[in-house]
Amino acid sequence: MTVPAMQQIADWLEKLGLAQYAQRFTENGIDVSALRHLTDQDLKEIGVLLGHRRKMLAAIGELARAAPAAPEPAPRAEPKTQDAAERRQVTVMFSDLVGSTALSARMDPEDLREVISAYQKCVTKTVERFGGFVAKYMGDGVLVYFGYPQAHEDDAERAVRAGLELIAAVAGLKTRASVQTRVGIATGLVVVGDLVGSGEAQERGIVGETPNLAARLQGIAEPNTVVIAESARKLLGNLFELEDLGAKDLKGIAGPVRAWAALRVSSVESRFEALHAGGLTALVGREEELELLLRRWSRAKTGEGQVVLLSGEAGIGKSRLTATLLERLADEPHTRLRYFCSPQHTDSALYPIISQMERAAGMAHDDTPQTKLDKLDAMLAQTATSAQDAVLFVDMLSLPNDGRYPALDLAPEQRRQRTMEALIAQTEALTRQNPVLMIFEDAHWTDPTSLEVFGQVVDQVKTLPALLIVTFRPDFNAPWVGQSHVMFLALNRLGEREAAAIITHLVGNKELPADVMAEIVERTDGIPLFVEEMTKAVLEAESEGEARRTTAAIPSSVVAVPASLHASLMARLDRLGPAKEVAQIGSAIGREFSHTLLASVVRKPEPELGSALEHLISSGLLFRQGVPPHATYLFKHALVQDAAYGTLLREPRRILHARIAETLETQFAEIVENQPELLARHYTEAGQIEKAAGLWGKAGLRSVERSAFVEAAAQLTRALGQIAALPTTPALRREQIKLQVALITPLINVKGFAAPETKGAVERARLLIEQAEALGEPPENPLLLFSVLHGFWIVSYAAFNGDVMRTLSAQFLALAEKQRATGPLATGHSIMGVSLMSTGEIAQGRAHLDRVITLIDPAEHRLLPKRGFGFDNRVAMFSHRALALVATWLSRGRAGRRGSSGQECAQDRPSRLIDGRLRSRKCDPCQLRKLRGSKRAARRKRRVGGRKRHLGVEGARIDIPGLGTGHDRPRLGRSPDDLLRDRRTSANRNNPVETLAHVILGERLCEPRQIR
Ligand SMILES: Nc1ncnc2c1ncn2[C@@H]1O[C@H](COP(=O)(O)OP(=O)(O)OP(=O)(O)O)[C@@H](O)[C@H]1O
Ligand SMILES: [Mg+2]
Repeated sequence: MTVPAMQQIADWLEKLGLAQYAQRFTENGIDVSALRHLTDQDLKEIGVLLGHRRKMLAAIGELARAAPAAPEPAPRAEPKTQDAAERRQVTVMFSDLVGSTALSARMDPEDLREVISAYQKCVTKTVERFGGFVAKYMGDGVLVYFGYPQAHEDDAERAVRAGLELIAAVAGLKTRASVQTRVGIATGLVVVGDLVGSGEAQERGIVGETPNLAARLQGIAEPNTVVIAESARKLLGNLFELEDLGAKDLKGIAGPVRAWAALRVSSVESRFEALHAGGLTALVGREEELELLLRRWSRAKTGEGQVVLLSGEAGIGKSRLTATLLERLADEPHTRLRYFCSPQHTDSALYPIISQMERAAGMAHDDTPQTKLDKLDAMLAQTATSAQDAVLFVDMLSLPNDGRYPALDLAPEQRRQRTMEALIAQTEALTRQNPVLMIFEDAHWTDPTSLEVFGQVVDQVKTLPALLIVTFRPDFNAPWVGQSHVMFLALNRLGEREAAAIITHLVGNKELPADVMAEIVERTDGIPLFVEEMTKAVLEAESEGEARRTTAAIPSSVVAVPASLHASLMARLDRLGPAKEVAQIGSAIGREFSHTLLASVVRKPEPELGSALEHLISSGLLFRQGVPPHATYLFKHALVQDAAYGTLLREPRRILHARIAETLETQFAEIVENQPELLARHYTEAGQIEKAAGLWGKAGLRSVERSAFVEAAAQLTRALGQIAALPTTPALRREQIKLQVALITPLINVKGFAAPETKGAVERARLLIEQAEALGEPPENPLLLFSVLHGFWIVSYAAFNGDVMRTLSAQFLALAEKQRATGPLATGHSIMGVSLMSTGEIAQGRAHLDRVITLIDPAEHRLLPKRGFGFDNRVAMFSHRALALVATWLSRGRAGRRGSSGQECAQDRPSRLIDGRLRSRKCDPCQLRKLRGSKRAARRKRRVGGRKRHLGVEGARIDIPGLGTGHDRPRLGRSPDDLLRDRRTSANRNNPVETLAHVILGERLCEPRQIR
């Protein structure tokens, strides 16, 4: 930093009376130009005290207002994310002056101008106190945004509070004519910001239905009322008393709209309770934490007072745990004192204490001051409070002293000190009657004076029968750690099983597909609030299609983030300042990204990038592993990533993905080679479909080679879908055939032999080959034809169509013999062997199987199973051959069992055969053991391609289409079900055909299915 720059910053601090920080600012390279980018967190990190931070931030705000910052020059060819228009959820307020037309008729225009100006100033002052942003004066109306440019987690609430206050403020305006206002409020997704795209527009425009809705609701509001839309109401729980105005038809808005009048702030004690008016689901886990609180309570009751500092990120369950503790203590005699800090009252001295006292005394909003004093008196009498202390409380509650108390004649500082002492004395007096449980909720929003009071309470409770629980988020530094009676308790995220339990409670009797449930668990990262809100959003989604979109792994829009979480996630991002752009770029790369890739895409000087990343880490949005430039980063919450990504408009998003894809392709050869799906995703999002299709195909084939069949099926399907959308060429047709054939094996493994999807894929492959042949373009690789024939054979095998199997095997063998390729020849003999056995010709079948074993060279044919034949033929043939041996053995009668083939067979009992067959298909034999006889549904979990998947087997109903009917009726003449049923009643216990039925059914039962 230059000497003049150091001097400038030192002067600025000096003016604020905070010269002691000059050195620290210089050490951290903070000059005047960096001031407007500083956040509370930054100041905290360099060691600025809370009160001083507030002062500095206020002064920075003044600076910004005095000299609006010149727009930063846009980096060349960079997608402009900072300060550009964004997609985001905004609560829009529209306020209007009632009767302005009538006023204009009877007032001089200049006087009217004064009235309107006073009104607009009043609106501006009021909404700004609640964090609203005045976007535009429209005639005598004002358009205000809550949630832009800075989101707060409680934007909807802020808007309604501002609306209610505005009515009172306008009524109190001293103007030439008495005026009234009307307010309309709606929440929704909009595009907001510099809509012109020049970066210089003064006005922050907004596009979407929400502003129109807010204006229309304002239009139907009675004078001096606030009308809100259903979208806003949903976010408010029971925070306000509302009157249902019913469904309204509004001009320019499709369909009737439910509207509500917000009457006043409700008297519900806690935010947590107000926002959970609909009831709670059962508590999951947290047994140890609850146990610990109960133990501390037991100790506190004996007079050994305790303090528990309960810390945890937003939505982790701090309030829920305290609520459960209260429930558990419901039958015990004790006094409860609950103090709630509020995000809108961080600067109102003693706010949580004042509101606790008003609630405890039972004061209602419409009580007269007289009644309020009476109620306060009644309450204070219970603790025999002195008149000197009572008057301090009267003053604290801003009630008029009607003469019943002595006059308060103290200097402000003395008054403050005495009030604190009186409050402490109250607590002490209460503990003399009963043990006291004090809960100080959300201390991260405390005002400094309350913090001071509670600092004294912490010291005081040590010798009292009292337990004080202080809850807060991790960005609050509790200053009391380290004392012997103070315990720190951090709440961690829930495990996957616990998250799933919350989902199950919420789902109740409704249906939720297993993969959607798994996706919710994965994306909500063990934060109960996210789990709840995400599940509710999915349940509310009308169709399953929409539900899937809500949880889609690659969010296609901000729909992926439930409305109820949007504001709190955006608030975290908006606090980042310039680092937000880096978060947006990171979010487009993925939940995890490397420093080198990010640096190549961001194209910022390394120190600038480094400081943005530091900021993201210190604000708890990113985890870092390793040291830059070899570091990798991970978004701490999947939903934060979604929120950041969701703000990007389509075009910048597309450009960003194209740049990521190009960077990957030119500088990260190993990613292109090893993770083509990653590149494919970016090209898809960049709208470069032909490139994307090729890469999805490559990824799909790679996944088939790694037996990651679930991924393979999805990737190949995606590639085929994209190819179908492109203008057809010979090269694309060849690619299409190759991929369509490759899809058969994954579908066999994921959906099953007999699944309609598998059959459909085989038929489509045949159709494509026929079409290509008709165009004189035979497939380059003859193996493809074999795969198709084999696919048909498999489908027939699963359907027990013996005759069709034989015909297909003969075609297959003939083709293989013509081509003289040993791999297909071996497969041809194997399917012919199995077909013959299915139709009862055991000896001929066995001869073919014998041939297979001589033909297959394990090393040479290693890749065959992956090239469209579905499973390891050699292993399968051993088990089929053993089956043939059993059949031969049985046909020789009992005596045969003592012969050499009998010994052979004894090792190949049917149950082993089944297990062997299952192994050849990578099924778990213990699953079959579970299923055998009981047909109970069983589940298994396995890792495919590194990701957890739930795969299920289901034996409750076996549906085998086409069995036993029509001309394809197999010579066996019965379905596997019938055969097995007969087994229990007939003496025909060792029928080889029955064994085969077991084999087929066993495989069927073990086909992976999605658990429903
Ligand atoms: N263990 C749990 N079992 C079931 N539901 C839970 C559990 N923990 C939290 N929840 C639910 O998750 C939601 C968020 O919890 P809660 O409001 O207690 O979080 P918090 O930590 O107090 O967050 P904040 O910092 O925003 O106040 C609530 O609906 C709560 O009922
Ligand atoms: Mg809470």
